[in-house]
Amino acid sequence: MKIGVFDSGYGGLTILREIVKALPGYDYIYMGDNARAPYGSRSFDVVYQYTLQAVRYLFDAGCQLVILACNTASAKALRTIQQRDLPDIDPTRRVLGVIIPTVECLDKISRNNHIGVVATQGTIDSHSYKIEAEKLHSNMTISELACPMWVPLIENNEIDNPGAEFFIQKYCRMMLEMDPDIDTLVLGCTHYPLLYDKIAEFMPDNVRIIAQGEIVARSLTDYLSRHPEIEKTISRGGTVRFLTSENPEKFNRLASLFLPIEVNAERISL
Ligand code: DGL
Repeated sequence: MKIGVFDSGYGGLTILREIVKALPGYDYIYMGDNARAPYGSRSFDVVYQYTLQAVRYLFDAGCQLVILACNTASAKALRTIQQRDLPDIDPTRRVLGVIIPTVECLDKISRNNHIGVVATQGTIDSHSYKIEAEKLHSNMTISELACPMWVPLIENNEIDNPGAEFFIQKYCRMMLEMDPDIDTLVLGCTHYPLLYDKIAEFMPDNVRIIAQGEIVARSLTDYLSRHPEIEKTISRGGTVRFLTSENPEKFNRLASLFLPIEVNAERISL
């Protein structure tokens, strides 16, 4: 059995990169639903249906465990899949997301409990970060801001152009207007780590900017050590297979923005 990593498109490769760095021995399947991305502006029902199709595909392809690297899918589909679908599909399989592991460590990162979260419209509208933070931490102020222009800038490889800076600065300024006291900024979208350096230019020096890859990799390491019944089913060939619902040549080319290795993706239909 393998570990599946699912994203609406390329962004989840930022999560896969850190998972494979931390746990290089296992076999992985990465799936990008590039033909139907972006998910960030889609309704709850559509994100849920698309994500469920992807999870079923990854299970059929031999994944014991699927990580929803996509924040939008984690926000809109994870809970329903875990609670409603998994018991019927196969109660021994697991689906995990990226929001709870991120929220879990916020109290160790922030000194004043003022946290900013930037993400897609869908993730922000779900208020998942706020809801989970209220469950896990007392007295934490979460300010949530959708940055709908950031994913298109990355997907179109425009991040080094002056027009991109305008939109990066715009949302950073809006976040600081929402809460001038934030000392932690969560990049709650798979793509945003690619903007890390530019966001840092527009944030005060005391604000820690949190990309999720390492957090998710740490959380998965911990999960596997606490669940030997899952861990022992996963094969150890050190391979990564890439699947995309779009043109594989296009996937291979754009994946190089996210991963420092050669990618040879296979096309699938969901
Ligand atoms: N993967 C999505 C997320 O992390 C961003 C891209 C999209 O909108 O599909 O929310």
